[in-house]
Formats: sequence, structure tokens, C-alpha cells
Amino acid sequence: MEKYVINGGNKLYGSVEIQTAKNSVLPILAGTVLTDDKVKILNVPNITDAKNMVKILTKLGCKSVLSGDDLIVDSSHADCYEIPRELAHELRSSVFLLGSIISRFHMAKIAYPGGCDIGLRPVDLHLTGLKRLGVEITEENGYIICKCDKLKGNEIMLDCPSVGATENIMLAAVKAEGTTVIKNSAREPEIEDLQRFLNCMGAKVRGAGTGTIVIDGVKTLKGCEYLPISDRIEAGTFLIAGAMCGGEIELKRAYAENISSLLHKLRENGCKIHLNNDKIILENHRRLTSVKSIETQPYPGFPTDLQAQITALCCICKGQSIITENLFETRFKYVPELRKMGADITVINRNAFVRGVERLNGATVVAHDLRGGAALVSAGLCAEGRSEVLDISHIDRGYGSFEYKLRALGGDIVRVSV
Ligand code: UD1
Repeated sequence: MEKYVINGGNKLYGSVEIQTAKNSVLPILAGTVLTDDKVKILNVPNITDAKNMVKILTKLGCKSVLSGDDLIVDSSHADCYEIPRELAHELRSSVFLLGSIISRFHMAKIAYPGGCDIGLRPVDLHLTGLKRLGVEITEENGYIICKCDKLKGNEIMLDCPSVGATENIMLAAVKAEGTTVIKNSAREPEIEDLQRFLNCMGAKVRGAGTGTIVIDGVKTLKGCEYLPISDRIEAGTFLIAGAMCGGEIELKRAYAENISSLLHKLRENGCKIHLNNDKIILENHRRLTSVKSIETQPYPGFPTDLQAQITALCCICKGQSIITENLFETRFKYVPELRKMGADITVINRNAFVRGVERLNGATVVAHDLRGGAALVSAGLCAEGRSEVLDISHIDRGYGSFEYKLRALGGDIVRVSV
């Protein structure tokens, strides 16, 4: 087990480069199973979710070689259609492999997925979508078992625009017979990225980024070299940390159009934000004013993956805020931890009512999930005195070299084994 020890109070100054998006890399890695050719993914982030995905690919019989930050996956000898419990539980995104595995083997057996404990996170939409493509699904001892003679394109209407279900259906449909239309599909930038990647392999996918995706099935896919988009959630996390600590930070490889909902709120708070091609510069030298309300929504609304971090920011703003979580019901687990640091927050159902305090004080807190953990680190960096953030393996799932990057900006944070 490891923890972060943070001495708060330093302003943040300097420049960091944003990593490749976790939520793009995971479905793209799942997509490498769809071809016998080698696929090279560039600039893969050093995060445990990606490493666990590679472990699962290895279990399926794929070979992978990391050369610097680039990963070459060779699926030509893939011969296993089962993801066992211990691997699936480490990574919720293992469910994204269902579509690829069924496309490749016409069989799949996968344990119910794990990942962040942030609510029920059902997979019913994934399964209903796959059934519409001709897959027969049964459940046995905590395993989802899928079989089909062949995948056949169909029209699929999602009850809600689930990111994972959209991606899973895309992966299953690219080599299905005929045309698949996904209606009410998710519109996240990572879905567009998956479309670009699949088309790079020779697939015929269009419409990603709108609410309707059309996929004309092709017989085979070929290898390619692909650089996924940058991580808008990591960028957002650094911007919020910069706003909380004060100073001036520059993010390289950061694209404003993908996080305009956050930039809008930060400007409302009183931050100065400058944009320059692929750079976002945030400047703040005073106590910020709270924004009245923030609600998480599917893209392009305010991302649930930045909810914990923006709530931490509201804790030290002048005034009161209401933060509403509309996607995941238990995504307020970090709140009791922030309270230990002096935050004034009350949670009622899906709403967090925050009264801003002048400053937070250092405390020992526990990271219960990935984004909540990142919020606690930002709080520690701006708090008065020393903080410890325990159980940081959750943070390692999605933030590569987090403490190195924060130290490069002037944050006093070290990783310590316990
Ligand atoms: C993805 C992201 C995660 C982000 C989330 C929402 C990845 C690896 N993870 O997760 O970081 O927080 O999008 O932006 O990309 N739902 C159902 N049935 C289903 C599937 C989902 O009811 O079968 C519901 C969920 O409970 C939730 C909502 O749909 O309320 C959105 O979930 P979804 O978009 O599927 O999130 P994930 O793909 O799991």
C-alpha cells in the first residue's frame, strides 16, 4: 500500500503535458482483438487500468510489446474467449472486450466487471445491444456467457446514452453482416476517437459525436498505428488544482473544446483562462467566487468524472454551491474525507450543498475511488499544513506520474510506502 504525503500551501506555476485519454485507450485496446495484424498504439499512459487491460489481452493469447510509451499488440494468436473473475474485477472496462471477443470467437465468457465502486453501474444496455446483433446471452455463477452463429447488423436504441454500451456495440458491429444503427448513442469525444481508430483499421463507421452512429459491417480489419486523443479529465483535474492553489499553469496537449463546460464554470468562478492552439493556461491570484449550481450530464454537459474535483474547489470559494450528480448514485464517497479537512458539505440524495470556507486544513484522508482521490489530492495541495491521502492505488488507475507532474508545478507531494 502507498500513500501521498502533501504539505499544502504552495502556489502552482509551470507547464505539464496531458496524457493520452484513459477512456480512449481502454476501448481502443479492446479493439486490437478485431484484427490478426499488429496494432501500434502511441503514447499509452502509465496507468494501472491500461496495464490491467493489457493483462487481459495477454490472457486472451495476444502478445504485446511496450517500446517507450508505444504499445504494439499482436492478436494473431488469440485463442481464449474467457476473462476470469480476478482480472475482470480489477477493471470494469473489461466488459468492453465482450463485443470484440464475440466478434472474433463467436463465443465469450466474462465475469461481471469491477472498477470504481461508484454505484450500481449495470451492464444491461451492453447486453441488450449485443442481443440485437444476434448474440444469445446467459448468466451463470457471476459469468456472462455469449454465443452466436454470426453477428448481424440491426437498429439499436439505447435507453440512455451509455458510453460503454455505445463502444461495446460499435466493437461488436464493425465486422457484423450488414448495417448497424445505434440511436441515442453517447457523444463523448472518446467515442469519436474510437470511430477514428476503427476506420483507421478499415472499418466503416460514421456519426460518432452525434446521437446516431451508423456502422456498415466489413469482412476484415487491418493493423494500424494510432495516437488516441488527450485526457480531458486529467486536464480538468490539473485546471481545478491550479484554480484551488492559485498561480499560473499551462497545460500542453489540452483541447478547450473537449472541456468547455468546465472552462465555462472556472471563468464564472473568477479564473483567467487563455487558449493557444493545443494549450490551456489558467491564472488565478485570489479567492474565487462560487458558482451557484453544477449538474453532471452526459457530454457535452459537465462530466461526472470532474464532479469530485469541482466540489473540492467549491469548498474554498466565497459563497454557496449545489452540485448535483445525475449519473452515478454513490459518487459522493469523498465528502466525509473533505469534511475532515474542514469543508462544509451536506449531501442529500444526489445533491451536495457546499458552503465555502476561507481555507481547508491538512488531514489524513482515504481515497475511495479514482476521481474522489484526485479531488482529495487537490484539497491537500491547497490546505494549510500536512495531509496524507491513503489508498492511492485508486488514483494510479487513471493518473500517470501524478505526483511528478504536480511536483513539476511546485506542489509539495511525495509517494510513501506504508
Ligand atoms: C464511462 C467512463 C467513466 C465515466 C462514464 C460517464 C470509461 C472507461 N469510463 O463509464 O469514466 O464516468 O462513462 O461519463 O470510458 N447505465 C445503465 N445500463 C448500462 C450502462 C450504463 O443503466 O448498461 C447507466 C449507468 O448506471 C450510468 C449511465 O448509464 O448512470 C452512464 O454510464 P456509462 O456512460 O455507461 O458509463 P461507463 O461507460 O461505465
